[in-house]
Amino acid sequence: MKLLLINIKELLQVRETAPIKLSGMEMKELPTLKNAWVFINHGIIEDYGTMDKMGPHQGFKTIDCHGKIVLPAWCDSHSHLVYAGNREQEFVDRINGLSYQEIAENGGGIVNSAKKLQQTSEEDLYHQSAVRLEEIMQLGTGAIEIKSGYGLTTEAELKMLRVAKKLSEEYPITIKTTFLGAHAIPAEYKNNKDGYLDLLCNEMLPKIAKEKLAEFIDVFCEEGYFSVADMERILSEGKKYNLIPKVHVNQFNSIGGIAAAVKHNALSVDHLEVLIDEDLEALKNSETMPVALPSCSYFLSIPYTPGRKIIDAGLPLALATDYNPGSTPSGNMNFVVATACIKMRLTPEEAINAATINGAYAMGLSKTHGSITKGKTANLIITKPIPSYGYLPYAFGSNMIDAVIINGTEV
Ligand code: NIG
Ligand code: FE
Repeated sequence: MKLLLINIKELLQVRETAPIKLSGMEMKELPTLKNAWVFINHGIIEDYGTMDKMGPHQGFKTIDCHGKIVLPAWCDSHSHLVYAGNREQEFVDRINGLSYQEIAENGGGIVNSAKKLQQTSEEDLYHQSAVRLEEIMQLGTGAIEIKSGYGLTTEAELKMLRVAKKLSEEYPITIKTTFLGAHAIPAEYKNNKDGYLDLLCNEMLPKIAKEKLAEFIDVFCEEGYFSVADMERILSEGKKYNLIPKVHVNQFNSIGGIAAAVKHNALSVDHLEVLIDEDLEALKNSETMPVALPSCSYFLSIPYTPGRKIIDAGLPLALATDYNPGSTPSGNMNFVVATACIKMRLTPEEAINAATINGAYAMGLSKTHGSITKGKTANLIITKPIPSYGYLPYAFGSNMIDAVIINGTEV
């Protein structure tokens, strides 16, 4: 399968040798080529250049991108896309005055989704999740991380991860999986958290490792969920199975999770809506990617991650959706990019870097995804005719995508 895109108004994120991540001032730069072409061969970006220097092209499909911008497909490094049912009643309860935490204390929240998921067959769960996956591919996402964590029993956690694995086999989008058994304390273990941690470490982890169902390990490190000590225990145990940490920290409280995650060489620390100076210091001189989830802040009306401050401190930043039924029922990376510009004061260049190359880094994919680089996976967004790339976050409510190419094929 060969495909040639020609007359591209502007080709974004063109990197001859791609960096694995971008930090601080580097994020302000978005290298582009005007009036460009890209040649795709068997799912790989084989070559690109400007129209004045294009060799003869014959015998394969050509797309004329006149007036359109082409960029790498979004890399969404944090999602809970595999889930059962929805929680719109909790959304209404919040409008009527209950807080997210109060709903969780009354048996809603994560354990509510877990109950639904445990009662849903693997086949049904697959179909419900596939609908969402198809939607986000149309919205320009070419690689996504998917977590477990709505199972909370060995059987249901394995079911979630098997569904994610099957999705990755059936669809061209790149999928990375994360074991998030420590997402909430299940009702049966309400007064026996250590009992649940034992189950997680002694039963869930070995089975997941044996079936090779996850590459990453996550913990919801938060007051009322899992403490820093719990997280450290789980990450140490995960390390025995070569699971790389990517953790939920600082969503509502700063309790020292960031420094602990950095100590455990976490690939990413995600949420960070509440960030104190010590947290920022812990991230300096580390290889850990801070990940902001602005649609979650939008939906829950909680503070936005101080992305401006993080970048100005010389740190990298990635953007992801957090797609899940409770705090972010949206997998739209275009909205994430726009919201990062509008609410976190990222420039369009910074937001696009955060949602492509840095997102790829946050799921261990920056060697193959996130930029227009020879040899990388051909995951591309072709926009509708637009005046400039700044128009993408500016027109935040409109779908400016004309076509999406994933693994070299139009979806
Ligand atoms: O990332 N914060 C923890 N987990 C999810 C939301 C869980 C839920 O409400 O279902 C999140 O926001
Ligand atoms: Fe999350």
